[in-house]
Amino acid sequence: MKNNSLYLSDILSVDQFSKADIATIFATAKKMERIVKTKGATDILKGKIITALFYEPSSRTFGSFVTAIQRLGGGFIPIQGVQFSSVVKGETLSDTVRVFASFSDAIVLRHPEVGSAKIAAEFANKPIINAGDGVGEHPTQALLDLFTITNHFGKADKLTITMAGDMLNGRTVHSLSKLLSLYRGVTLNFVSPDILKFPREIMQKLTARGMRVHEQERLVDLLPATDVLYVTRVQKERFSDLSSYEKVKHHYIITPELLKSFKKTGIVMHPLPRVGEITMDVDLDRRAVYITEQMRNGMYVRMALLRLILNR
Ligand code: NCD
Repeated sequence: MKNNSLYLSDILSVDQFSKADIATIFATAKKMERIVKTKGATDILKGKIITALFYEPSSRTFGSFVTAIQRLGGGFIPIQGVQFSSVVKGETLSDTVRVFASFSDAIVLRHPEVGSAKIAAEFANKPIINAGDGVGEHPTQALLDLFTITNHFGKADKLTITMAGDMLNGRTVHSLSKLLSLYRGVTLNFVSPDILKFPREIMQKLTARGMRVHEQERLVDLLPATDVLYVTRVQKERFSDLSSYEKVKHHYIITPELLKSFKKTGIVMHPLPRVGEITMDVDLDRRAVYITEQMRNGMYVRMALLRLILNR
């Protein structure tokens, strides 16, 4: 591959990606899909070791990275649950990442603080992949979400995307909306209760890029014109007061009844885990792609990123 601009780069925020980068990542993800479907695995990352350093709970992001590494023939150091690590002895993030950078070729980092991945990248001399920094960003999730959308519709341009749930604290919607602002004619609807409104600062970035953005509390009237319904969990762990969480936790519940007015050609997405915001009977709707396409795409996109970052 010529001019692989991702080689040895950090993945910190979706702001770093051009449309050309995204096209390269998606073309590579397609190749990864073919490899998995035909052979199951390859040895592109033979001899490379990746640290998966997770300071916050995770199962699918952790699992899909670990699967991606193994399907590429690489090895990994799993650090999950920092209660068992030197972090409880008071070790700083900068020390921890420098230690693991000396053992491994890249670090996948999930951390509760916004900006932690950037700090880690300043200290580590190996690529850092941000797997979620508090309420900040989740760039690899946004890429797999966009990959799912473009695969399904053959494009991202001119789609109407309705995001519903916790727009304030959901890092996946922060990253995905910025990524979508690179495409032409996308309409973005943010649907949330008032206390969970999308951050103003990111909103300004979107509108400055000419994106059509609407905000409202009511979901149902948007469904007939929506191509992608992206549902999120209310992020309980970000609330300082649980009674406010209780008031909004089930503000939106997607049911087969509600989806009767949803576009026939639309898709329902969710980064998962869900905690009641989509009822299980919706899984049977052919428009529901969260447990199927979206999850599998996570593995292909993460394989593609690792391949591009670690191989010239
Ligand atoms: C998301 C996250 O961690 O931000 N999950 C994930 O990575 N698949 C969404 C969430 O936890 O609600």
